[in-house]
Amino acid sequence: MDFTQSRKPPTHSHNRLILQFDYDCFYAQVHTILNPSLAPPGTPLGIKQKNILATCNYAARARGVRKLMLVTEASRLCPELRLVDGEDLTPFRDISKKLFGFVRGFSWCGRVERLGLDEIFMDVTDLVDHNISCLNRNGLESSFFYLSKQDPEKGFPCDLTTFAGMVEGEVPDKPNYDDVRFLRLLLGSHLALYLRTRIEDDYGYTSTCGVSTNKVLSKLVGARHKPRNQTTLLALTDDDVTNFMDDLKLRSVPGIGFKMASILESHLTGHSPPENSHECESKLKVGQVRKSPKISPASLEKMLSGPGAERGAGSRIWQLLHGVDPSEVKEASDVPSQISIEDTYKGLSTMPQIIEELHKLSHSLLRRMKIDLLTRGDGALADAGEQRWLARPRTLRLSIRSWHNMHAQNYQRASRSGPLPNFVFDLQSDMEHLAERLVSEALLPLLRRLSSEKGPKWNLQLINICAANMVMGAAEDRPGVGRNIASMFKHQDEALRPWRVMQDGSDVDDEETGERNSPPQVQDPEETPASDTEGGWEESDNDSCPQCGHAIPAFALAAHLRYHDLEE
Ligand code: TTP
Ligand code: MG
Repeated sequence: MDFTQSRKPPTHSHNRLILQFDYDCFYAQVHTILNPSLAPPGTPLGIKQKNILATCNYAARARGVRKLMLVTEASRLCPELRLVDGEDLTPFRDISKKLFGFVRGFSWCGRVERLGLDEIFMDVTDLVDHNISCLNRNGLESSFFYLSKQDPEKGFPCDLTTFAGMVEGEVPDKPNYDDVRFLRLLLGSHLALYLRTRIEDDYGYTSTCGVSTNKVLSKLVGARHKPRNQTTLLALTDDDVTNFMDDLKLRSVPGIGFKMASILESHLTGHSPPENSHECESKLKVGQVRKSPKISPASLEKMLSGPGAERGAGSRIWQLLHGVDPSEVKEASDVPSQISIEDTYKGLSTMPQIIEELHKLSHSLLRRMKIDLLTRGDGALADAGEQRWLARPRTLRLSIRSWHNMHAQNYQRASRSGPLPNFVFDLQSDMEHLAERLVSEALLPLLRRLSSEKGPKWNLQLINICAANMVMGAAEDRPGVGRNIASMFKHQDEALRPWRVMQDGSDVDDEETGERNSPPQVQDPEETPASDTEGGWEESDNDSCPQCGHAIPAFALAAHLRYHDLEE
């Protein structure tokens, strides 16, 4: 088959300006800021979850310690490493929310999206374009960046004769200040520096930022200079973008997982990276793939076809190879798309143990629902009778992860969903009592539906309970609540998409299942919460994350999967 006819490059769009923030060694910063005596400057600090490091600070990284390393290995490399337990995710969630709210406050269009706990995408095209329209080209060194259209005093001074932070690409000796693409990037770099400085001055958190014209490019370029730095991709033409992409390792591109890279490598070189090796990172560069005459949207579609393959993957990957990513930064919603609570275990095996843990998780879920979904009101809402639910989740999902076969090191994951009983919305009842009912009337029946899969006995490593399928307001609530319901549903729809393929016909989610009719979108792997797969049990590859395809040693897989589960 001749694919050469269809190798037309995709259309680039340079008319947006997207910032991508990523906090430096996030969990380590949270603990250091909450407890400064823990790690005075220069002290190596690791955040452990069970026997692995979820992350470590940069003092530890300077001594060879790495994220997702075994604690024993890290302590051997760096005996003075201080360790803190990072099992309780509450502080990370709380800080993440607080910082997100702060950054979001600077947005005009509301397109600010949190990815996991420590990344934020922000579409600032409107802010930047407004400032371009106000630009005084005769006094660039003493410019003022307006943060508000209404209040001309709100903003910050900046020197627009130079970029803020690092630049990837050649800065022309005589820049063309009539080139709007150049101006957007220039102004975007100053806005990024201002926001990073504010996050640091007001909250103490250092971050890294990428400045470019789409989400994938911003993320990729932001990773160039870490920590406490920022990089602008000065790409003014389509060729500049492809030149930047060509030099990157294929595996570093968000959306191209380990498996996909292996498939492409074997097609192009005739051999794939060795399996069952932790060093199996593909060395293939984006440019090698993009320039190969064998590669086109149609050939990619064919190569990547197979069970579970996403339709349109060929065009999507073809776009990515060229640095094209049309996906929008999603609008933030005040209401989370779902609320999930989980904990990990060394292997829960008896029913009394499991029931006890389900009870604790239910209690936390109900507490969190009250915090996140009840109107806080304009004034004090002294008595519960005055409170109203902003949104009500309709679905309760129970997910477990267990060792199915200890010797084969097979992690198994499964979920079952059912209706979230109405009694959980009763504000008069005692929470202990509600938690008990939730366990006996909803969670245990879901667990029973999972029991045929459990093998000789339970061996639970993780339990996650999740209230999903959020519906704004409720019949007895006053409509409106001052929110944009259409956008809320759009957000929810996208956030829940990966969960749609349910395990069996009896699940209650009434969203359409299976086929995606919407055009394919580039999704970062971390964006996807842990998902059910068709057919139920999901067997993970010991060397790669079943969700993002990242090469992960088996011992670190639990912590890594847990990280994916964080999407609220
Ligand atoms: P990252 O941004 O990947 O890491 P980081 O912020 O610690 O370090 P960097 O300076 O390189 O950005 O992830 C954010 C947090 O998520 C991290 O602090 C710990 C947690 N995490 C896990 O628990 N498991 C994982 O597999 C990963 C990748 C992160
Ligand atoms: Mg980070």
